[in-house]
Amino acid sequence: MSEPARPLGKDLIGLEDLSADQIRTILDTAEPFKEISERRIKKVPVLRGQTIVNLFMEPSTRTRISFEFAEKRLSADTVNISSTGSSVQKGETLVDTARNLEAMKIDMVVIRHWASGAARFLAERIPSNVVNAGDGSHEHPTQALLDLLTLRDHLGDLTGRRVCVVGDILHSRVARSNIWGLLKLGAEVGVCGPRTLLPRGIESFGVEVFSRIEDAIEWADALNILRLQLERMQGGFVPSLREYNRVYGVSTARLEKAPRDVLILHPGPMNRGVEIDSDVADGPQSVILKQVTNGVAVRMAVLYLLAGGAPERAEAAKRRGMGG
Ligand code: CP
Repeated sequence: MSEPARPLGKDLIGLEDLSADQIRTILDTAEPFKEISERRIKKVPVLRGQTIVNLFMEPSTRTRISFEFAEKRLSADTVNISSTGSSVQKGETLVDTARNLEAMKIDMVVIRHWASGAARFLAERIPSNVVNAGDGSHEHPTQALLDLLTLRDHLGDLTGRRVCVVGDILHSRVARSNIWGLLKLGAEVGVCGPRTLLPRGIESFGVEVFSRIEDAIEWADALNILRLQLERMQGGFVPSLREYNRVYGVSTARLEKAPRDVLILHPGPMNRGVEIDSDVADGPQSVILKQVTNGVAVRMAVLYLLAGGAPERAEAAKRRGMGG
């Protein structure tokens, strides 16, 4: 029997590696999968017989649970492993952990890891498909894909649309994946934050740099507001959280001065009252929970495509399984 075609290749490591067509294919494939989560019985036989390991070496709520829902709703068998409670605590390496899982005959590994490059390192050493669920400050591709899907739902074609990523760009894998994805889909991309939280040479990505949040809000159709990653800071990046909120916090008062209704995204978890005020997070311009809902459909699409599913058969596959 011939190998299934793989529209994404073997692995999903980052949006830097994908073409605009591949990104559009994932977003288009997610569309028919959205409906599955609205059903009373949220299960289709698309990945029946596939075994997926969720290997999470860093804390996660949204990504881990969303992958697990996506896998279960596609009828895959799933196993969850975290650093606590596994032999990683006894010093077993990432590759040894993965090779032992391989020996039990698995098909895919979804990995979150504190080290930038861990997902690619693993993908090059095991035959299973590897999906990056966030590696250090490198990339978080499925987060950016769900952000793109949510932006597309609300703004339509992203060509020429202006999206500003606000906050702690320096430590953010979400920022990197968003910048790659947005630029590839033809959006104009801005970044806004204190200089200490912007990577040196960020302009070379082809993004507009704003030092004042007021200017970013005036420019943008959408803001993707990032969390201050206090756990990755050794101090000295911002004078204080109160000061950060005063200068860069997104508030209703600031949004009211914008020439248009600016769409508000946040990947979570939020520091309410620091980078985003509660009335903005819960307000009419916020699509934060729609991002979370779209995360399940996007991850279903990624798993389906990596398993060799044909993009044009996703609608049929969700009724009858991979055979379409
Ligand atoms: N957005 C995101 O990655 O959230 P978690 O860390 O909760 O998965």
